[in-house]
Amino acid sequence: MAITRTPSKAQVRREQVIAAVNYPLDWLEERSGLVGATRYFLFRKVPSDTNWMQTLGSAALTAFIVQAVTGVILAMYYKPSPHDAYPSIQNITDHVTMGWLVRGMHKWGASVFIILMFLHMGRVFLFGAYKYPRELNWIVGVLLLVMGMMEGFTGYLLPWDQTAYWATVVGINLNGTAPFLGPWLAQFLRGGQEIGGETLTRFYSMHMLLIPGAIIGLILLHLYLVVRLGVTSPPWSKEAAGMDRVDGARPLRAGLTRPITRGGGGSK
Ligand code: HEM
Repeated sequence: MAITRTPSKAQVRREQVIAAVNYPLDWLEERSGLVGATRYFLFRKVPSDTNWMQTLGSAALTAFIVQAVTGVILAMYYKPSPHDAYPSIQNITDHVTMGWLVRGMHKWGASVFIILMFLHMGRVFLFGAYKYPRELNWIVGVLLLVMGMMEGFTGYLLPWDQTAYWATVVGINLNGTAPFLGPWLAQFLRGGQEIGGETLTRFYSMHMLLIPGAIIGLILLHLYLVVRLGVTSPPWSKEAAGMDRVDGARPLRAGLTRPITRGGGGSK
């Protein structure tokens, strides 16, 4: 005769907690598939010999998230007009609770973000991870680097002090010397003949909306490609970073390459 044991109070409580946690997750999964997608993204297989240097991309992502969060907080107090910009920055630094910390994190975090992007790019280059089939992800990365530097350039003007003003004069004049598009670009950045209120609001809009929006879109594309193509092994591994082009069985239209299936294609 089978002996049935009544579960202890602790076991019942545990099961209730698990059911309570799973209920909203199951609800979301049934309606969107988002839980499965997140699990797929976080629990992918990566080569066993991956290296600490391969965490630099995630470090750059973390730095970007810190910039986004601190930037949103700063935007609650910053006033983008020539009359109010500098006093609002002084207010953030001297009077807003922890304002000095948030501003400092945003200011120094900008350099950290750029440095991490360069280190990550260096790692990708030294590992040969830009080679086929990851060329497109390299190009997306270059765009991210350009956008990151534009974020630094547009943000530098916002305190509207002497350093900000004259650094922007130099930056815009440099852009103005570019062939063909230079004068147009300088005029566009200034928003007129001189650097003034128009320039400040323009830079603020680019710094707050246009460039971060582009960076978020590019990061999503970048990560999609990382997941689709898989992470590479270090150069000293038997698994090389690049792979042979898939030629063959199916004739391709001129100019087309055959997409490989996820995880397939077999690197050599
Ligand atoms: C906002 C900036 C960036 C973020 C958040 C970012 C994020 C990432 C992450 C999380 C990975 C996978 C893990 C790793 O390899 O570290 C990755 C891989 C990659 N990134 Fe970036 N990245 C950024 C900028 C760049 C730049 C500037 C380049 C080059 C110009 C680049 C090129 C690549 C390539 C080719 C891979 C694939 C490497 C591999 O499979 O081993 N990324 N990125």
